[in-house]
Amino acid sequence: MTYNRKDHFYAKAKAEGFRSRAAYKLMELDTKYKLLRPGKSVLDLGCWPGGWTQVAAKKVGPSGKVVGVDLTRCDPLPYPQVSLIEGDARDDETIREALSQVGGKFDLIISDMSPKHTGIKEVDQAGTAQVVELAYWVGSQILKPGGALLVKAFPSGDLDRFIPELRGAFSKFHRIVLKSTRKSSKEFYICCVGFKGAPLQAESEVVAP
Ligand SMILES: C[S@@+](CC[C@H](N)C(=O)[O-])C[C@H]1O[C@@H](n2cnc3c(N)ncnc32)[C@H](O)[C@@H]1O
Repeated sequence: MTYNRKDHFYAKAKAEGFRSRAAYKLMELDTKYKLLRPGKSVLDLGCWPGGWTQVAAKKVGPSGKVVGVDLTRCDPLPYPQVSLIEGDARDDETIREALSQVGGKFDLIISDMSPKHTGIKEVDQAGTAQVVELAYWVGSQILKPGGALLVKAFPSGDLDRFIPELRGAFSKFHRIVLKSTRKSSKEFYICCVGFKGAPLQAESEVVAP
């Protein structure tokens, strides 16, 4: 089958003013898990070009807050509840800046982060597991107790080894393959709800203001 970048969701996103087809993935996830409620604070890791941020901003509304972080600068979005940070989620400075935008910890972390594709299978697989661990590492420092983490993942041995730790940190753990994911992709999403609040022993821990 020929790879068709401009598929149904690509055309739909363009017609409806969303910056990426990925916007429909977050809508599908939220229809199932209902995490994006009015007034919630959301950290969107790997937000560029901004499709998930648009969806999250509409759902949390003006009483909520969405902080988007990406290595690539994201063009501004017309929602007062959105702040965009150009930065690396691995840096304490980025996380401190995100916390300062909210004035405390977050209700929800959503991560659609993807590492740069190298074409070397082992490197790429390790990279996809690392961004899941990174999303959790960030979450372990800045999620409110009871908070949730929604993260994109790909199958890998490294991820399988990490999942028990993730499961243990939350009261509920779900794994879901979306309809809006391309049939050729092995991508799935992990939804963890009810953060137990036990922080990781990170080398340098970022403390909420
Ligand atoms: C698939 S795109 C995200 C699409 C986005 N969710 C949307 O709906 O428009 C993945 C993004 O993850 C970002 N990324 C990967 N590693 C990152 C890191 N360590 N810190 C911040 N962003 C990262 C990449 O720069 C890339 O823009």
